[in-house]
Amino acid sequence: MRIALACDHGGFRLKESVKEFLMSQGLEVLDFGTFSEDSVDYPDFAIKAIKALLRGEVDRAILMCGTGIGMSIVANRFPGIRAALCHDVYTARMSRLHNDANVLVMGGRVLSPEVAQEMVKVWLTEPFEGGRHERRLRKIEDIERMIKEEVYEASKGVGD
Ligand code: RB5
Repeated sequence: MRIALACDHGGFRLKESVKEFLMSQGLEVLDFGTFSEDSVDYPDFAIKAIKALLRGEVDRAILMCGTGIGMSIVANRFPGIRAALCHDVYTARMSRLHNDANVLVMGGRVLSPEVAQEMVKVWLTEPFEGGRHERRLRKIEDIERMIKEEVYEASKGVGD
């Protein structure tokens, strides 16, 4: 499994420990930065990992900032992305079982490296349950299509 990582300065330390853990498990990691605790803007790093995921260059992505909030807002802007901001093993597990999350988001200023490691372990192995949850995910796709069509309709005639 190939995993994209991205963080800002608030998630840097956690990203480094998650990276070390993933590599110790023999997993392939694509690290999109940031690479220090110097202040940066989280959208610049989120987009790199999300693009890699949408292009199929990785199977999953893990994003980290101070709280995880900024990274999850950016990631969920993209159709097809189901980014779950998780705070413990339970939410990490449920994000796979019920939401088929393809992006895990964590707060570097919220979680200890030990808890984050347990979360990552569970998140990488837990399957999607499907069934009624599949139906709900299809409804999210319907919403994405509807928004796309509305934007297309609204843009008709603009610039003519
Ligand atoms: C950076 O100070 C902080 O705002 C960022 O890491 C993140 O928590 C934003 O949601």
